[in-house]
Amino acid sequence: MDRRKFLKTGCISCMSGGLLLGILESCDSTKIAAGKISGSDMIVPLSDFVITKGDKKEFKRYLVVQNEILQYPVCVYRFDENNYEALLMKCTHQGAELQVFGDKLQCPAHGSEFNDHGDVQSGPAITSLRKFPITIADNQLKISLK
Ligand code: FES
Repeated sequence: MDRRKFLKTGCISCMSGGLLLGILESCDSTKIAAGKISGSDMIVPLSDFVITKGDKKEFKRYLVVQNEILQYPVCVYRFDENNYEALLMKCTHQGAELQVFGDKLQCPAHGSEFNDHGDVQSGPAITSLRKFPITIADNQLKISLK
């Protein structure tokens, strides 16, 4: 590759990388949260669901909550201010970690799908996802991991 072509290619790569970084940094809708462990509960502030757009307040449909002591993340769906569902992102077929796509959790291993309540939508899995009880207090979710 000649010098001119190298510089041209490099500049385009840097510009597109910088643009992507700028977009990611300006996006406050990240759906990954760090849950704090308190006893046998994982704590998630309700504010983690809030997206502020100017004067408007919107809410994320779900959060993927992680903590280093958990082998799998927990997907927390928000249905309204008083209704949430916390689902272990472990496929009930053979234990692969699930991926979230909006209202569905999909397994990358063999294609099982679960809805936002953890029910099987398509196999080979036949068992619903593990759900964790949630209580709401002091503007936070307490997800019981017992
Ligand atoms: S491990 Fe998920 S479908 Fe097989």
